[in-house]
Amino acid sequence: MNLSEILKQRRSYYAIGSDLPVPESQVVKKIEEYTELVPDAFNMKSSRVVLALGKKQDLLWDAIYDAFGGKVKHEKLDGFKAGAGTVLFFYDTDTVTGMQKQFPGYADNFPLWALQASGMLQFTVWSGLRELGIGATVQHYNPVIDEAVAKLFGVPKSWKLISQMPFGNILEEPEPKDPEDISKRVIVSR
Ligand SMILES: Cc1cc2nc3c(=O)[nH]c(=O)nc-3n(C[C@H](O)[C@H](O)[C@H](O)COP(=O)(O)O)c2cc1C
Repeated sequence: MNLSEILKQRRSYYAIGSDLPVPESQVVKKIEEYTELVPDAFNMKSSRVVLALGKKQDLLWDAIYDAFGGKVKHEKLDGFKAGAGTVLFFYDTDTVTGMQKQFPGYADNFPLWALQASGMLQFTVWSGLRELGIGATVQHYNPVIDEAVAKLFGVPKSWKLISQMPFGNILEEPEPKDPEDISKRVIVSR
C-alpha cells in the first residue's frame, strides 16, 4: 500500500480481537522503529511509549475500570480489553523542563512541541498498525488513570500519560465517512 492508501484505511476500529494477523514481535519492532523515526522539536526525544501485551493488557483495562469506580461501562472497556494490546503514549516532563532551561526564549513552546511530537508518533503508529492489518483507536482515560498506569508499568514520575491506543485484529469495519468539500479547509494560493 502507498501512503494515501494506508491513510484511507486508518480508521477508529472499536471492534477488535486478540488474534493478530502478524507475529507480536513484528508489532514490537514497528513501534520501536516509529518511535525512533518520528521527529520532534530540537530533536529533544520527549516521547515515551509503553506497549502493554498479554497479561498486562488485561491488567491495564481492569485498572482503568477500577480507576473510574464503575462510572465507565464494563462493556465499553471490555471491547478494548478484547484487543491484543495497548500502546500507551507519554512525554517526559524532565526532558521538557531541561529544554526550557536551556532555551528560555522558547520555554512556553516545549510542552506544546512535546504534544505535537506525540501526536505525530501516535498517528504514525495508528497508521502503521493498519498497514499490518491491525485496527486501533485513540482513547483518553488519563488523567484519571495516571496513578494506576504508573504503578502497573513502573514508569518514572516524570512520564506524563497522553493517550491509550488499544489494538487488535479487525472484527468490524467502521461506517464509511461522508465525503468532504476540502476546499473549505484547504486554501491553495499562487
Ligand atoms: C487527538 C485525537 C483524540 C481523540 N480522542 C478520542 C477518544 O478519546 N476516544 C475515541 O473513541 N476516539 C478518539 N479519537 C478518534 C476520533 O474521534 C476519530 O479519529 C475521528 O472521529 C475520525 O474517525 P476515524 O478515526 O474513523 O477516521 C481521537 C482522535 C484524535 C486525533
